[in-house]
Amino acid sequence: MATANVIVDRSQGVAPVQRRVFGSFVEHLGRCVYTGIYEPGHPTVDEHGFRGDVLALVRELGVSTIRYPGGNFVSGYRWEDGVGPLAQRPRRLDLAWHSLETNEVGLDEFAGWCRLAGCEPMLAVNLGTRGVQEALDVLEYANHPGGTALSDQRVANGSTEPHDIRMWCLGNEMDGPWQVGHLSAGEYGALAAKTAAAMKMVDPTLELVACGSSGSQMPTFGEWERVVLEAAYDHVDYISAHAYYQEHDGDLDSFLASSLDMEYFIETVVATADHVRYKLRKERAIAISFDEWNVWYQSRFEKSGTIAEGWPVAPRLLEDVYSVADAVVVGSLLITLLKHSDRVRSASLAQLVNVIGPIMTEPGGPAWRQTTFFPFATTARLAVGQVLKPRVETGTYATARHGDAPMVDAVATHDAATGSAAVFLVNRSREAAGVRIDVSDLGVGGVSEALTLADADPYATNTREQPDRVQLRATTAVLTDGLVSVELPPVSWTALALAPSAELSPISAAHSRVRLATTRWWGSRG
Ligand code: AHR
Repeated sequence: MATANVIVDRSQGVAPVQRRVFGSFVEHLGRCVYTGIYEPGHPTVDEHGFRGDVLALVRELGVSTIRYPGGNFVSGYRWEDGVGPLAQRPRRLDLAWHSLETNEVGLDEFAGWCRLAGCEPMLAVNLGTRGVQEALDVLEYANHPGGTALSDQRVANGSTEPHDIRMWCLGNEMDGPWQVGHLSAGEYGALAAKTAAAMKMVDPTLELVACGSSGSQMPTFGEWERVVLEAAYDHVDYISAHAYYQEHDGDLDSFLASSLDMEYFIETVVATADHVRYKLRKERAIAISFDEWNVWYQSRFEKSGTIAEGWPVAPRLLEDVYSVADAVVVGSLLITLLKHSDRVRSASLAQLVNVIGPIMTEPGGPAWRQTTFFPFATTARLAVGQVLKPRVETGTYATARHGDAPMVDAVATHDAATGSAAVFLVNRSREAAGVRIDVSDLGVGGVSEALTLADADPYATNTREQPDRVQLRATTAVLTDGLVSVELPPVSWTALALAPSAELSPISAAHSRVRLATTRWWGSRG
């Protein structure tokens, strides 16, 4: 068995845990909205047409912000189509997904659903076929209290209180040739700057996200961010990042190390944003909104040619069924996002339901958790307080795509208010790893939860027929003299919750720290 040491120390603080890192994404795509969150006639439906079973799972998932309504969809969307009396809402062609949009769900319904789910809505404006005026219009409709044409229209439509949407995306993936209204970096930078400046004239406290790159493999990656930020720096707060990963041609080893690409992505964008910052002599740093990330088997989607034929309503698109290995990668991507909490202040798991989602549904039938649900829900629940970036001493394994990859990766959080802590670990390798975690500096008293996601078959999935085939299981983690010992199965993700040491007096706590300091050399030689 391989071994690894993880040394956690309060001096390794990165930043407070950003709740918005646990965001997700609802796009008018496939069955994410229709028969996903919304399905009149479903046995669990509420008076607004929302599925109660899905709402319960969304709450359990612990999602913070939800990006809406796209995605590629937003670049051809007219927000006005989705407000007002249902019977008068037009049906439109959605060019992005070759589907028919009925507009039964729009801004007011989505904002209402977010309130029920306990989530913060994050809205994208259309900068594909539209521009400054339409962005201002939807902002006035959504956020102005009343007494203007558009805010009064919202009130008349039944939303008496403003939706008070704080985060706004200035278009979507405008660097992608597939995007309706695709622009060059120069063109987009100018449009984003104008739109953002005007939106901030309405409300300077808005948080605005400029489109960054749709992937680190884009030929314009890096240069796009530079050009866009040079144009829009004064008016925007975030630059977006999007990344999807999949196992290519049976290369599980590379796939399990996908977070190395995410790390490279984040560090490149930070370097570029800081280059622009210093070049323009700005004090304020730009944050990253990693507002699309996940495992997505894009090659299956492309092969199936599934851009639907005949403009169907809510076709089955991008309904990836996730395996244990996929969930391990999701858990490891979350570790990477947390480790960069100083700059990644918002992120959205794309997407929420049915469409590459952690939640699946059948029309008229059940809803269930995909494997990827578990690392997300557990991290969102246990990561509280300050993010700590531990020292990880581990062996490496060779990958075709990412070179030598560390077998074990980890991040920790520590809540100074309660004294509790959490450690999240991934074992990317095909062999088990015995890990010793030195938490002596945290002064914790015991392991209150130890949960692992692993399976003898890394390709095991949850399906309608077997919705609970894959679950988290309790594992053994022992805290002795400030060292937690835990065995990480091959291809696994693990979360440990550490309870505060209530019983230790300050003197005996200091004592145990001295004693533990003497054992640390051993911990680090492993
Ligand atoms: O999440 C699916 C699609 O991926 C989104 O619509 C788009 O923004 C990205 O390319």
